[in-house]
Amino acid sequence: MGIDNKDTSYDSLYKAFEERIELLAKLPKMDEDNSIEKVIKENGFSRRDFMQWAGMVTAMLSLPSTFTPLMAEAVKVADRLPIIWLHMAECTGCSESLLRSANPSIDSLIFDYISLEYHETLMAASGWQAEQNLENAMHKYKGRYILMVEGGIPTGNEGSFLTIGGHGKKGKDIAIDAANDAAAIFAIGTCSSFGGVQAAAPNPTGAVPLSKVTNKTVINVPGCPPSEKNIVGTLLHYLLYGTLPALDVFNRPKWAYRLRIHDLCERRGHFDAGEFVQQFGDEGAKDGYCLYKVGCKGPYTFNNCSKQKFNQGTSWPVQTGFGCMGCSEPDFWDTMGTVNEPLKDRLYHTAFGGLGADATADKIGIGILTVTAIGIVAHAAIAVIKPPKEGE
Ligand code: SF4
Ligand code: F3S
Repeated sequence: MGIDNKDTSYDSLYKAFEERIELLAKLPKMDEDNSIEKVIKENGFSRRDFMQWAGMVTAMLSLPSTFTPLMAEAVKVADRLPIIWLHMAECTGCSESLLRSANPSIDSLIFDYISLEYHETLMAASGWQAEQNLENAMHKYKGRYILMVEGGIPTGNEGSFLTIGGHGKKGKDIAIDAANDAAAIFAIGTCSSFGGVQAAAPNPTGAVPLSKVTNKTVINVPGCPPSEKNIVGTLLHYLLYGTLPALDVFNRPKWAYRLRIHDLCERRGHFDAGEFVQQFGDEGAKDGYCLYKVGCKGPYTFNNCSKQKFNQGTSWPVQTGFGCMGCSEPDFWDTMGTVNEPLKDRLYHTAFGGLGADATADKIGIGILTVTAIGIVAHAAIAVIKPPKEGE
């Protein structure tokens, strides 16, 4: 059962969510002795912390606060959705960022609680047994499981650059088979969403995004890595609605990737005032000036990093003093230029009748990376006219 996410009536949405949670609650628990309350308590969180977190996720998914108790109920039945997590060509950074923190957040604890039926990094099994586990899980939960795939899919030399397990099965074939019987498919991270570093020129292994090897719809959750909030939020959205979220032109959930980094950035006032860090360590850097001139690609990147942050919500790249690299955009290794240099010639509409904070990837389109700019060049010119600060 899926809910039409275009339905704007909160009353009927609330009812539909209740019915879906009831339905899921009737499915067998993965572990009768486990509960989200237990997991939360064992990790030092109170019920109040949990409800605060549920309120935050509710707001993140653009639902009214009256839905918070329902969100908490939804998390309780999250263990009824079996998940198969595949590793393709990647660094495991997406899994690591979610699961291996010294002080796990409630987001990462949700992953302790859900039913991860197969995850090569986490499971005890290896070799033949691991292969068998995957086949068993795909068979047992056919048509019901959520498939999460981390990593690009090598297709060069007929896919033989990535073989897995004792039978030497090609990664490409495993991904296709697993996608065929999945209820929903999430590409976790930029490699799986867009090819990532594996697909960067000259792309010797012919790595492609997951969406290129399956004809089923793939929800992309890009980022290098994506934030735990974007992964967990996408999962909870599916849990509540049972349908795809609203997606942008690159199949990213709009609730997370609707706005540009630049439009949500705490340094934006400095950009507008023409106050730029000229080089790392200068006076402007100490004063938190805009990082555009030292290579920030925030104006071309759609993600919610400044709002949701990383490392238990403590920080995000621009806050640390290093610009955004554009890691949630397609082909960012090839299209975002040199890391510490600005993309002076790229389109960024702002002051000249252009697109401001409400601009989405849909409105701007893929052409953003190919058209000559005026906005940023104008701002860069202002910075040249302004007298430099002492030490610049
Ligand atoms: Fe923030 Fe980067 Fe935009 Fe400057 S260019 S305001 S640092 S996102
Ligand atoms: Fe990536 Fe930029 Fe966020 S580099 S993590 S999209 S600030």
